[in-house]
Amino acid sequence: MKNEIEIIGLEGIPLINPGDDISEIILNGLEKNDFSLKNGDIILIAQTIISKSIGRIRNLKDIKPSEKAFSLYEKITPKAKLKDVPIKSPEHIQAILDESNEILKAEHVLITETKQGFVCANAGIDKSNVEGEDYIALLPENSDEISQKIREALKKSTGKDIAVIITDSFGRPFRVGAVGVALGVAGIQSIIDKRGDLDLFGHTLQSTIIGQVDNLASAAQLIMGEADEGLPIVILRGYKFNLTENASIQQILRERHSDLFRIEKNANNLFKSLKNRRSYKSEFDLKTVDINLIRECIEIARWAPSAHNGQFWRYIIIEKSKIRNSLIDRMNEKLKRDLIKDGKSKEFIKTKIKNRREIFLKSPILILQCLDTRDLEKYADDERENNEFIMGVQSVSASATYFLLALQARNLAACWYCAPLFAKNIVKEVLKLPSSYVPMAFFTIGYSLKEQKTPVRKKLSEILFDLKEENG
Ligand SMILES: Cc1cc2nc3c(=O)[nH]c(=O)nc-3n(C[C@H](O)[C@H](O)[C@H](O)COP(=O)(O)O)c2cc1C
Repeated sequence: MKNEIEIIGLEGIPLINPGDDISEIILNGLEKNDFSLKNGDIILIAQTIISKSIGRIRNLKDIKPSEKAFSLYEKITPKAKLKDVPIKSPEHIQAILDESNEILKAEHVLITETKQGFVCANAGIDKSNVEGEDYIALLPENSDEISQKIREALKKSTGKDIAVIITDSFGRPFRVGAVGVALGVAGIQSIIDKRGDLDLFGHTLQSTIIGQVDNLASAAQLIMGEADEGLPIVILRGYKFNLTENASIQQILRERHSDLFRIEKNANNLFKSLKNRRSYKSEFDLKTVDINLIRECIEIARWAPSAHNGQFWRYIIIEKSKIRNSLIDRMNEKLKRDLIKDGKSKEFIKTKIKNRREIFLKSPILILQCLDTRDLEKYADDERENNEFIMGVQSVSASATYFLLALQARNLAACWYCAPLFAKNIVKEVLKLPSSYVPMAFFTIGYSLKEQKTPVRKKLSEILFDLKEENG
């Protein structure tokens, strides 16, 4: 029985420009190469031509580096010089930051988790294979979606049921040399889960999962090449697999909680991140914040300790909206009245109000944290009722701390503000909150533009006391 795989590169693919239709390019390439698709063929497409076709190209000259980009530049440039690898400009570093959720290592390269969830060097940004000194190619935002569109277009034109994989090459930890990886898939499962199958000797496989699409991407890389080969579209024929309609690259991405290396890194760095957390009180970057990241952090905030596990905390996301505007206006009216009562000057009051508008209205995300008194236990006397309320406040604060630390772990900057506490009734009225809610705090959240100064802390000896038993 023949068990053979053919890897065929389509020759004569032209240079791709923004707006080019890659399925058209493939169809033309097939015709030029006098080649017809068959059911079950796999088309592997180099990411660079996808990025060019959809305009995921940036001109470094248009990028304004943030303070963070400059400080990373200072950090990694000497290391890059030592290793004799190309030095990245602050603009290039800013582009990497813009494409990343998190920086995992800043050495001679930046290892980041990209917005798509890939862990790779320099957020997968490519300078090679892009024309023009100042231009860089970014990874497509959703390679699964693009793969599926190409698959459907090719099926419509040729009648053949095929699979599509968008490929790139990544370096790896522990081993030298870049290998092919899949960034997006359509028609083919990313992995083959062999767990439960029997091996040659009848033993049940316990843990074998095959990285199917990465294997195929590597096979295509054999002829696709990295530099001048110019074969960005490769057809793989003869590989046996089941065509599927619900393929996704997500399957091949290891979930954070099961990634042993990240867990270890996080554990080692816990003290460091506790010390490095800062309240962010400067202007935020205008970059939008993925609301799913906020949800994920509130998920973590649920795990804070609370008195009799009462979990009194409630979180409310206040989008940039008319309601946010009227809430801040109403709160400011109250603040003004309070400051007049305190005898503050007109100038002082004006500045304070202006600052508060800036902070709360411009914050990309604003979260209100409340205490729900329905979860408090009831007592027969006021003193114990009062203590129970204090325990509620303590617990809600513990959750707020978890929340801030989770945000920090996701590279988000935030600050805790007590303003809602001073306008409880207004907040409840404007946001139509249940009567049992006590507004406790605001959290402004976004991406940082500036480093924050480290505030002074009391010495350990000022806050820690060792009570020794008197001897004799
Ligand atoms: C309960 C609480 C209320 C706070 N309220 C405000 C506030 O209203 N305005 C403000 O600028 N910062 C506020 N902060 C942030 C503190 O100013 C900040 O935590 C403190 O200065 C220490 O700085 P760090 O968080 O960077 O370590 C608050 C913090 C907490 C814990």
